[in-house]
Amino acid sequence: MERVLVTGGGGFIGSALVLHLLAETEVEVVNVDKLTYAAHPDSLAAVADHPRYHFERVDIGDRPALEAVFDRHRPDAVIHLAAESHVDRSIREPAAFIATNLVGTYQLLETARAYWAGLDAPRRAAFRFLQVSTDEVYGDLGDRPERFREGGPYAPSSPYSASKAGADHLVRAWHRTYGLPVLVTHCSNNYGPRQYPEKLIPLMLFNALAGRPLPLYGDGRQVRDWLYVEDHARALWAVLLGGRVGETYHIGGDAERTNLEVVEALCAELEGRDLPRPPGVRAFRDLITFVADRPGHDRRYAIDAGKLRRELGWQPRETFASGLARTVDWYLANPSWVERARAGVAEWLERHYGGGGER
Ligand code: NAD
Ligand code: TYD
Repeated sequence: MERVLVTGGGGFIGSALVLHLLAETEVEVVNVDKLTYAAHPDSLAAVADHPRYHFERVDIGDRPALEAVFDRHRPDAVIHLAAESHVDRSIREPAAFIATNLVGTYQLLETARAYWAGLDAPRRAAFRFLQVSTDEVYGDLGDRPERFREGGPYAPSSPYSASKAGADHLVRAWHRTYGLPVLVTHCSNNYGPRQYPEKLIPLMLFNALAGRPLPLYGDGRQVRDWLYVEDHARALWAVLLGGRVGETYHIGGDAERTNLEVVEALCAELEGRDLPRPPGVRAFRDLITFVADRPGHDRRYAIDAGKLRRELGWQPRETFASGLARTVDWYLANPSWVERARAGVAEWLERHYGGGGER
């Protein structure tokens, strides 16, 4: 494996993956990214001139541009992360989710298939297409105590998860029908450095530091399983190198928490630091506010990552507590990243939550 094409490398998980590949492996990395609002311009600034890093500003829906990128770089594998990824935006404006997650994945698959078919036999046999999916395609576990297993039924609830589910079906069909050597991963909720502050943990962190309300949807008892983003990056690389073609692997942190527990843990983490308290704020947790629930909100996701642990020996390095502390460290140490992200997200926060942070 010499050259890996990563789509969506400018985003939260993609940038963690690109940084991991450059630091921990010898591969060349080609980052194909349209640079939507979700790609923070500073996230990959440190590696912009790295000799093994190449950037292509391309929309995955643009087939001729994609074909040119494959011709130019001749990758040995594709790790496909490019997506519209925010559930709340998908509820308000689903069109981009269909265009990128579904139609974009189709264009990428067709480009990869034509390229793969033209490779010589050894390179064709070694080629891999890794689809980075989410546990959300399985839908709501509600009050049932089980966890998602590989091969379980799909029941997506939101335009986001439905568009990811459709993309997964295309990827598996391209394997079965055309023989494209694919792998599919489903990961639980990620958190960590460089996550755009529309998602739960960075949103709450930014709001807490600014003394704004911490808006929990509904009763705040929805459960997610949380994984530190660098553990996800290591898992993707392990699956790419060692996963069996056509197989699906779950990735998760065995760290189920209610949203209220997550926000309380974050507030406790902030209380433990010597930070200026926003005016009028006695304790960060006093900022917690319960707001109108998300339409179609899934109550619980839980992922069983036993297959990945057994077959490939992967396990997370961070616990939720250690990962959360590292996350807060990173945001506090990167004020210029935070400032640009704060400006970038302001319009969304205003539109979605209203001026006071309430919905
Ligand atoms: P993100 O929104 O932070 O980043 C998405 C990236 O894709 C951005 O850099 C954006 O510019 C790029 N992109 C969007 N549309 C594009 C297009 N048409 N062409 C090229 N690039 C485009 O997303 P993320 O949170 O890093 O998620 C990455 C992937 O991982 C997604 O496929 C998501 O479904 C999956 N995933 C995310 C999580 C999570 O908790 N964030 C969990 C499991 C799986
Ligand atoms: P999010 O980070 O959007 O990820 P996902 O919806 O993909 O799981 O949300 C995580 C959980 O936090 C989800 O149950 C919705 C909830 N949430 C809130 O309660 N308030 C918020 O302001 C946001 C953004 C999310």
